[in-house]
Parts: sequence; C-alpha cells; structure tokens
Amino acid sequence: MEAPDRKIEPTPDTAIVWRENRLWLLDQRYLPAAADYLALNSAAATADAIRNMVVRGAPAIGVTAAYGVVLAGREAFASAASKWKQRIGPGLEKLRQSRPTAVNLFWALDRMQSLIDDLPEAENPEAALLREAVAIHEEDVAANQRMGALGASLIDGPTGVITHCNAGALATGGYGTALGVIRSAHAAGLIDQVFADETRPWLQGSRLTAWELLQDGIPVTLLTDGAAASRMSQGGIGWIIVGSDRIAANGDVANKIGTYGLAVAAPTSTIDMQAVSGKDIPIEVRDGNEVLSCGGRRIGAEGAEVWNPVFDVTPAGLVDAIVTEKGVVHSPNAKKMRELMEE
Ligand code: MRU
Repeated sequence: MEAPDRKIEPTPDTAIVWRENRLWLLDQRYLPAAADYLALNSAAATADAIRNMVVRGAPAIGVTAAYGVVLAGREAFASAASKWKQRIGPGLEKLRQSRPTAVNLFWALDRMQSLIDDLPEAENPEAALLREAVAIHEEDVAANQRMGALGASLIDGPTGVITHCNAGALATGGYGTALGVIRSAHAAGLIDQVFADETRPWLQGSRLTAWELLQDGIPVTLLTDGAAASRMSQGGIGWIIVGSDRIAANGDVANKIGTYGLAVAAPTSTIDMQAVSGKDIPIEVRDGNEVLSCGGRRIGAEGAEVWNPVFDVTPAGLVDAIVTEKGVVHSPNAKKMRELMEE
C-alpha cells in the first residue's frame, strides 16, 4: 500500500479524499481493526475498489465513480490527446459494471458523461472533470446535512432507534443519510440510544456504524440481525432509520438485505423514476463465500449451498417516511414521488 505524502487522518468524513492527483479511499474492508488508505490512479482500479467493497454505500459509490471518471479522462488524454472522448469509453464502462443496485453510481456517471459531451475534444479534460467530481462530493455532504435536519424534525424524543447496515459518513460523501438523521437528532436530544444491527455477512453495522457513532460520542448497542424484532417488542424504539440504494417511482425501497425500514433517508440521486416499482430494481447477488466464512475463517458446513442477495426491497406501504434533501415524503406512493421529483 502506498502512503500519502502527508498523512490523511482516518475519520468517517475523510473516507474519500482527492489528494496529490490521486484518489485515496479509506479501506472499509478492514475497519475498525485497521484504518489504511488505498491510492488509486486508474478507472479500472477504482472500479475494482467499488466491486471489492473498499468503498461501499450508495452515495459513496457515486462520489467515488465520479473521481474514477477524472482518472479515466487523464488516462484517455494521455493515450491519445485528440481522441480522448473515444478513449474514455472503456474506463466509464468498467465503472458502470462495478456494482448493480445502488443507482447513485449510474446517476453520477450520467452526470459526468453530460459534462464530457460538452467539453472540447482538443483540450485536456482533467481539471473540468475534477471540478464536477468535487461538486458531486460537496453537494452530497450538503444534501446529507439537510436530510439530517429534516429527518430529526420527525422524531418526537428522546427515544431509541434501530438502524441497519451503514448509512453514515463512510457510506456517503460525508455526514451520512440515515446516520446523518441520527446525528442531528442526537445533537438535539431526540435520540438517546442507537441499536445497530450487525448486518451479516459484511458486518457493516458492527464494524462501521458502531465505529462511526462512537467517534461522535453517540451510544450504540449492537444487535444480531435476528434480534431486532425482539428488541422492538420490548419498547423504547421510536423509529427504524435506514438508508437506501435505490428508491423506485412508487416509493418501494431497496436497501441492505434484512431491512424492514419504517423510515428512509436518501438523497434524490437515489431515486430512480425509471424503476416503476421495486420489481425493476436489480438486486446484487454476491459470492457465497461471504456467507460461508467470517473474519477469514470458514464457518459454514462443508457442502452447504449459499444464496447471497445483498439487498432487499421494502414495499412502499411499509415505509412511514422517505427523507430527501428536497423534503419529506410521508407514506410514499407514485403520485407523491412524482411531485417530489418535479419540484
Ligand atoms: O453493500 P453495501 O455496504 O454497499 O450496502 C450499503 C447499504 O445498503 C446502505 O444502507 C445504503 O447504501 C444506504 S447508504 C447511505
């Protein structure tokens, strides 16, 4: 692993950093045991980092892919300055193929492609591409802060909440979607305890969400995924607050497998109005070895087969509220989602 010239402080809000003309990603596969950065110099390496979960979480994947396009532009211009628009194609395609469910990836790539279409063929595109990637990154943080305030205003606390997977600063450009709401509500005295599902098989809850919350001084209790319903039945849980990887036009919500979300926080870049319902959302199925082993040790019985879908769809009818930076959609349906997106 390459070390940056000046050390980057490993915090949830500095998980994606552009420095020294390279993209630095805090490697989320090894947190919290190790907090090391990977330096990326190419679109192919960026696509691999997304596929292999160095970076994960829908908005974070989008922001990373945008920086990946900067690297693709540099490579294309270096290989044939006058033909860079043709040469950038394969790099963009690698990024597009990296993961299928989080729509923020495709949203960010489409936005970068629109810029590419407008840029002159004869000039080095790197500076313009970098400005756009930084804008996507900064807008995501601002959207999360706005969602934090809007989401917190729904909470009548102090109460406990349950969250699933990791929808914090690590999963976004910074601050977090669901954890952004939790952060804002905790700061306002509206949340007194967070219960985090451990989230098998990648353990985003126990490794990442707990790490983030504790750095902020927010008390967190870990639950095995199967314990969430029992914890709810004991009372004191005002809300389930989760993020999303893609929201369909009718309000159906795809998020980490095991999500039974009653409230969702996600930027509008997560909403896919082309997906009429959750049935149109492609659900990623990953390698069975992720379930058969834990922490590098085989735990599953020899010979057992595995089905490892990593997202599920919560029907709109089970969702109390979708919080976006444009506003809150209560009891979402197709009409309300259309109105939100037409604003
Ligand atoms: O497989 P992952 O870790 O990329 O899945 C992430 C999630 O499911 C998050 O909850 C979702 O992306 C919302 S992040 C703000």
